[in-house]
Order: sequence, then structure tokens, then C-alpha cells
Amino acid sequence: MKLPPCQPLAWKDLPALLDRVLPSQKLSHEAHKERQAGSGQTLTSLGSYWKGRKPLILNKACVLGCLLPATDDPFRDLEIFELLMGMDRASLAARVKKRPTAKEVFLNVPLANPRDWFEFEPDVLPGPGMLDPKDPAVRSLKVRWRGDVGLADRRRLEAKLLPDKPYGELIWDLYRPEEVPDVHDHIWDEVNDHYGTSARSFPELVEQAGVARFGRRPMFADPFCGSGQIPYEAARLGCDVYAADLNPIACLLTWGAFHVVGAPPEERARVEEEHRRLAEEVRRELLSLGFETDSRGRQAKTFLYCVEARCPQTGWAVPLLLSRVISQMDGVVAELVPDPERRRYRVAVRYGATPQELEEAKRTGTVRQDGRGGAPYLYHEVGGVPHRTRIADLRGDYRGPKGETLNNLRPWERDDVAPRPDDLLQERLYCVEWLEQGPDGRTRTVFEEVRDEDLEREEAVRRHVEEHLEEWRARGWLPDMRIQPGANTTQPVRERGWTHWHHLFCPRQLLTAALVRKRCTASTACAFANLLNWNSRLAGWDPSRNNVQQTFYNQALNTMYNFGCRALPRVESLLEAPRQRPADPVGGACRVVSRPVAETDQPADLVVTDPPYGDAVHYEEIYDYFIAWLKDSPPAGLPEDWVWDSRRPLAITGEDDRFRLAMVEGMERVASLLSEGGRVVIQFTHQSAGVWAQLANIVWASGLQVDSAWYVATEADNALQAGGSYVQGTVLLTCRKRTQDLEGLSNLLEYELEEEVRRQVETLAGVNEQALKRPGGHSVFEDPDLQLAGYAAALSVLTRYRTIDGRDMVAEARRPAVAGRASLVDQMMEFAVSLANNLLVPRGLSAEVWGEANPAERLYLKLVDLESRRLNTLDTAQNMAKAFRVEDYRLQLASAKSNDTRVRLPSSLGKLVARPDAPAPAAKGRRKTAAKGPTGHPATLAETDVGAVLLALAEVLKETNGDLVLEHLMQNASPYPRRKPRLLAIAEYLETTYRPIKQECANAANVLVGLLRNQRL
Ligand SMILES: C[S@@+](CC[C@H](N)C(=O)[O-])C[C@H]1O[C@@H](n2cnc3c(N)ncnc32)[C@H](O)[C@@H]1O
Repeated sequence: MKLPPCQPLAWKDLPALLDRVLPSQKLSHEAHKERQAGSGQTLTSLGSYWKGRKPLILNKACVLGCLLPATDDPFRDLEIFELLMGMDRASLAARVKKRPTAKEVFLNVPLANPRDWFEFEPDVLPGPGMLDPKDPAVRSLKVRWRGDVGLADRRRLEAKLLPDKPYGELIWDLYRPEEVPDVHDHIWDEVNDHYGTSARSFPELVEQAGVARFGRRPMFADPFCGSGQIPYEAARLGCDVYAADLNPIACLLTWGAFHVVGAPPEERARVEEEHRRLAEEVRRELLSLGFETDSRGRQAKTFLYCVEARCPQTGWAVPLLLSRVISQMDGVVAELVPDPERRRYRVAVRYGATPQELEEAKRTGTVRQDGRGGAPYLYHEVGGVPHRTRIADLRGDYRGPKGETLNNLRPWERDDVAPRPDDLLQERLYCVEWLEQGPDGRTRTVFEEVRDEDLEREEAVRRHVEEHLEEWRARGWLPDMRIQPGANTTQPVRERGWTHWHHLFCPRQLLTAALVRKRCTASTACAFANLLNWNSRLAGWDPSRNNVQQTFYNQALNTMYNFGCRALPRVESLLEAPRQRPADPVGGACRVVSRPVAETDQPADLVVTDPPYGDAVHYEEIYDYFIAWLKDSPPAGLPEDWVWDSRRPLAITGEDDRFRLAMVEGMERVASLLSEGGRVVIQFTHQSAGVWAQLANIVWASGLQVDSAWYVATEADNALQAGGSYVQGTVLLTCRKRTQDLEGLSNLLEYELEEEVRRQVETLAGVNEQALKRPGGHSVFEDPDLQLAGYAAALSVLTRYRTIDGRDMVAEARRPAVAGRASLVDQMMEFAVSLANNLLVPRGLSAEVWGEANPAERLYLKLVDLESRRLNTLDTAQNMAKAFRVEDYRLQLASAKSNDTRVRLPSSLGKLVARPDAPAPAAKGRRKTAAKGPTGHPATLAETDVGAVLLALAEVLKETNGDLVLEHLMQNASPYPRRKPRLLAIAEYLETTYRPIKQECANAANVLVGLLRNQRL
């Protein structure tokens, strides 16, 4: 189908690109790469404390995918989509860190006729085909690209120099597309040819596509904007944007994305100047107070504090240190020198620790733990006698009447800025990092023990803050807000007795923050919030990098035994304007509103949003940390109607009925404001199969219907997560307004579902086949995409109907769920998924063997298939396990590393084939259906055909006599004659799929295949 010309409203009724294709695998790799860039991500410099940022590259795909039309050539559509995303080979060539010169291309890419591409100087070369790049004469040549070689052709040639690696590996050595200003320069002729547009940039393309679809530049909305990652990308692409969130800190970050990072160049110069002025004024005032310079005129860089507690057994005051290392890089450790007279320790600072001493100092702090997860305890020795007291006992923890933990800590009062002398937990300065001139005249840092003059300055700072407390609060420079209890906010109260938000900052930190806050404007507000994040009593000292960490290194408010307080040199760097790339400015009009979703008032053409589904992040609690500092006198220049309150009762949280109803209310409003032909993409974190029914209900009741669903994976090893592996994926659900009130019958719906699942899976499989035919081609879609196509098909069929079997589905969707009873929607979903799974036959296996496989067998056969194709990630394994409803899927894995899972092979079967009642590996007896687990199927392969084959292979590997192998197989797979053909098919399949994984196992399978073929029954 040729697209209608790109004229006003000509594309009004056309399906969107995202309805048909998405380069989901490449996108997963790109999203992962962007996340791994950490502070190098475009908007993260505005506030790394914001958790749950959605990658910009993903958001770009959503916006373009909704706007641009799909044709009847999905393969070409996908190629164009990749061009726009900077994922085609020519774009990859443009993304290399060091671009090749014309001569490097000439010398390294074999060409039939180099003169078609290059000009040479001197032009004395022999004719076509006679150039030898190794010839010294050729090497000394000057080589230039010919003026008539187009950029696209040139980049395609350069791409031949890219290493031959899978996409996911290749891009690690490249820039991200957004980091390369001219990455898209070569794409516009092809893009315009495909769409009939005349764009030379994204804003032009977006404007023209918007006019063709909606009659105007598209109006984009995100009612749950969070840090602004989605609306910023929409704005950068050229949409007009409405961004809203309940939380004012989300609004602040989104505002910063548009007006600080995304400011146009002239505005940007003003913003930078404002940051410079702020830093300069704070510097002047702080220096004039003299709290950070010593009697030798040295400037402090960091003050290191720790909690100190009295040991109840000895009465000694002990500094609480998890580690005694002060600086790993400089070999500096803290030595606790007993002072028996005062029953306390001097903290001496020693340089020159050897690597062994540093290791020792790491293990011998005064706060220790028995094993991982053990309760921490205070440890010290007096006269060689060790004394331990659990930290919980120091605080006097006990259970309250409602099972809550209470203790004897004194709740701090409003005017407290430091512990009082009789508090159980004290605070102590134990080391200062100074800047001084070394003998070579260069500035260096030194860590030093605390002297009397330092303690005097400590006292002076505390007094200064106490004296100004009331005045600063009245002016709105210091917070005056109690900590409201909650899932995350109770921790500081319980562990330190802190009751107000300013208690989370020591006097020096309060002083610095007040000096910045006093001068803070709209443009510098994000820098101020950043300072709060990087300078609080919760900001730990990192001895391995000589640096102060951030408060929100995760999404909790974790108290610290020791923390670093930043002095001026470490504060100034935080007050600089965030770095900006040339391609960052935003185009259209941007409006940021602090408003609950149910009060959305902006009509929109495109909505891409990431609602707070079952979110682990309690946005409505933890960011009170910042709200407390800004609410009483918000910085001038920010929209005045923002509500500086987290409005907890209005926050959408959890995943139960309350969540569903709140989401329905909000999305109903969003849908009602959607223009004709408008699209909504709901992004959510893929968690459980139950999510789908929940989502179906939300979509239904909001008056939307689903067009497609995609899965984009991002995963990373993350030590913070239990189990060491952190897996996350995002599902994109594309919807539009439901326009008809169709009536359906469930038995007929099943046929419709079957047809739709097949259609969707086959479309993707067809694109795959074409992609694989390309030279060096890879699959574009993998099993999770195909499975999702099943879910998407179910959602798209179901949500078309207003009633099913006479039941009003909109009303049903609002009804509370009944525990333990599967709703009609649940049943339909399950049916659709089983249909999709039946279509996921591993390559090389017959549909018959697959059709008869039980869930555990399917998982195993699939895992082997995936590993043989190097698609062995934990995320994929989990998705497969979810799809087949296999519970303890790790039983089938020899390694669960997130990017390199390993399936169990016959050489190391572990308990995979062991019967629960018999530890011996050789199972005997009749084949039974494995018992069903409480919610899913067990992963064991005991008493299955696949299990029997694996046991036989294990014996072949041990060089057991062939007859014996067959005898055991006959016992393990009874009734054998009927099962033998299936056993043979499995062995043949394993022979091929094991080959790229482990030769030895493939060879064993080859032997077993031979034995089976030659066996006479
Ligand atoms: C998952 S986050 C969005 C993250 C965002 N996409 C990003 O990349 O940073 C969900 C957001 O929904 C907001 N939220 C929760 N309840 C809300 C409501 N009733 N109305 C509007 N926003 C709400 C939260 O404050 C949070 O910022």
C-alpha cells in the first residue's frame, strides 16, 4: 500500500507504526545501554535521586511509533523505524567513538573500484582493481571521499569496518544516538521517500506527521510525568507538551528538563550565568563566616562524622564505624586509641596502611555483623576483653502493642539540630579532609585527626545555626515540617529519633543549604535539590573513591553510622549548571502542571505515560525530603499554582482494587480528552501474568481499546537486589478510544482470539524470516515478543467489546476482584497465552513433540534453544517460566547470571531429574503427570520423556555400556514402545541444539540417537 500524500488529515485513519512493528530487541539493548550510562544520562544530572526513570530511547520509540503510520510492508516500516532510532548500520557507523578517515576506509574495505568512492592525490594510480592497499606507494597517497558520494552511502561503507558482533555487544563501544549530533543526517531522503514528507529534522517530521494525522502539530500529554523523561523526549522531537504529576518534585525535575537542560542556546547562557552567580555568592558568604578554614588558612574539603554510643557493658563511648578505612586510595585508616580516663577513644588518622592493613581495617570497625543479614552489633575490647552489644539493644528496641518496633531513643524536638548530651546516640566529627599546598606547590588533600580548634569551630557552627533557626525558618530557607510516618519515612524516626525533615542534616549542612536556598531561583532549584541529595546525614562516605555518596542511592531513607559533610569545594561543583549536549533543546510549547491525573484538563493527540503500577518506589513519601525545603517559599519563576505537598491520599499506589479504581478514574479522564485518532501508550513494569487481567480491566473501564503490546527488556546485575540479579522489563500497551459498543459471546470470542493470536504471531515471525535472510541478519523478535503478541491479541479482541455474554464489561471491570475466583477476563487471557505458547515451537522440534510436552519439558527445550542462539538472559528465562507457569525455574539453570544464564546439561543435572522421594538419579517406574504446585507447575523433569533422555545422556557421558543405557531408558520411559519415537525426536533435537553450547553433550546425544535408531524391539 502506498501511503496517501502527507496532507492535512490524510493519515487520520491509518494504523500506527507501533500497532505493527517495533525493533524491540535492539531497543532493549539501547535502553540497557542508556541506563548503564548512570550520571551520563541526559536528564540524570538534574536529579539522580529520582528513581524509576524511563529511558529516553524507549520514549522516543513510543512517540514516533504512535505518530507515524504503518503501511502494508511491515519489513520496510521496521527498516525506517530503525533509521529514525539510529539503529541501522549506517547510524551505527556514525556512532563510533573515532570515525575512520577516508583513507582508513579505502585501505580496509575491499572495493571493486575505489575510484567510484574516493579521489586520490597524486592521481597516478593504475585503473580499477589494481590497487594494492599494502603497496607503500598506495599507503603514502592522500585519499578523499568523492564529492558526489552521498552521506548515507559513505556511512554504509564505513559500517563495513564495524566489528562483527551481535547488536547488544556492538553498541557498548559506541555513543548513544542522542550523543551524536549528526547521527541522523543520512536518513532523511529515505524517510521522506517512505512517508512522502519533506523533513530534514525530527521537529519537521513530527510537525508534518502531526498535520497529516491530526491537522496540527501534535499535542502530547503525560499525566504521570515523574522526572520528565517521557515529555522531555516528546518535546525534543518537536511536539507541544503537557506534563503533569501529583508530586511537585516530579514537576520541578520536568520543568528543569525543559528549561535548564532543554533551554535554547540564548536562554541557556542566562541559566549558566545564574548558576555561576549563585555559587560565587555562596562561596563569599560561607568563607566570610570562617567555619571552614583553619588557623593555617587551609580550606576544608570534607568533614567526616560518625554516630557514637556508650557501650552498656563498659560505659565507654565508642565511635560507630562499619569500617576503619578512611581512604583506600591514599592508604589512610582510623586507629582507635583508648583513653581509659575519659572512657572513650581518640580517633587517630594513620597514613601508609598496606593493602593487608586496609583489608584488616575494613573488617575491624566497631559495627560488625555475623554473616550477611545478621543483626549489627557494637564491638570493642577493653583490656583485651571483647564486648558486643546489638545495635537494637543500644536503642532499646521492643515490640509495641501493634507489633511495631519502638525504642528508647528520644524523639528529637523541632529546635534540635544535634543530639543532646544525654541522648543514647551521639554524633562526632572524627576526621577532616583539608586542602593544602604540597612541597611541589600543588594543591593536595590530607586527612587529619580532629584538633581542639576544629571542635571549637564545630561548636561555633552549631551555635550559629541555632541562633538563626527561627529567622531562617520564617524566611523559608530551612524546613519546618514533621516527617509523616510511612513505609519508608518511619525508618529515620525509628533508627535515630529524627522527627522533622531538617534533622536529616547536620548543622554545617543546614548552614550551607540555607545559604543556597536563600538565593535559589527557578533555574537553580534543581541544583539546590541536588545539593540536598548529596549532602545530608544519610550521605555516606565512600573510602574507595574519597567521595561523599548520595542520600538516595536507592529508594529508601537509610540512616548511616558515618557520613561525609561537604565543605565549599565539594559544594561548588554541585552548583554548576548541568552539562548540555548540542541536540538537547526542546522545540514546542511545554506546560508543567502539578495535578492529580483525575483532574487532567489538556486535550491531547498522543499520550505516553508510565503510571505508578505496583511501584516499589514510594514517591509520595520519600520526596517529602525535598518538598520540606521548598514548600514554604517556592523559588520565584516556577509556576505559582503548583501544590507543594505530596498529597498522599491522592497518590495512586499498590496494585489492588483501590489502585484499579483510581487508575480507571484517571485514565477515563485522559481518554475523554483524547482527540479523534489519538493514541495512548501505557508503559508498565512487567511483573506477573495477573497484571494483564488488571490492565484489561483498566483499559476497558477507561473507554479505551488495545491495539498492540510490546516488551522491552532492560536488565542489570545489581548487588543491591536480593539474590544479586535484578531484572526489569517494560511492557508498552498501545491503545485508542473505543468507538463502538460491540456485543460478544464468549464461545465465539475464542475463535476470534485464536485467529488474532495466530495473525499477530505470524506477522512477527514473517518479519523475522525476512530479517534473517539479510546478510548477517539477526532475529528482530524473540519469544517474549511473540508471547506478548498473544496477550496483545487477547486484549485487542476483548477490549473491542462493550458486553460479553450480556455482561457489561465496563461495569465488570470496576467490580472488586474476588479472591481465588478467576474472572472471565482471567480465563480469556490464559486461553490466549496458551494459544501463543503453542506457536512458540523451538526451531528443529516437531509441533507434535511440543504439543505433548508438559510445562517443565517446554521450559527446558526452550531454554536449550535460547542458549544455543545466545539469547540466554535471565530475563528471557523468567519470561519463559512465566509463560509456561513453571514455578521454580532456577532448578533448570546451572547459572542464573543475568546476561549469561546456563541451562543444566546432562553433565551436571543436579536435582533436575531426581524424584522428590528418591535421591538416586536413575528413576524407574511408570510415567506420571508431575504434581501441580500451588500456583504453577514444578520445574522438575523427573518422570518425563525429556528427563528420561537426559538421564540416558548422563550415562552415555559416563561411558556406560550402550545396552545398559537402553535398558535404563526403557525402565524410565514406560510404556516404552509407544514413547520411543518421542524419545528419539527429543534426542535428535538435543543433539543439534547442544552443539553450540557443549560439544561433548551433543556428541553424547549423537551416540544415543544411534543407539535408539539401531535398537530392535
Ligand atoms: C512510575 S512514576 C513515573 C516515572 C517517569 N516516567 C520517569 O521516567 O521518571 C509514576 C508517577 O506517578 C505519580 N503519581 C502517583 N499518583 C498520581 C496521581 N494520582 N496523579 C498524578 N500523578 C500521580 C507519581 O508521583 C510518580 O511520579
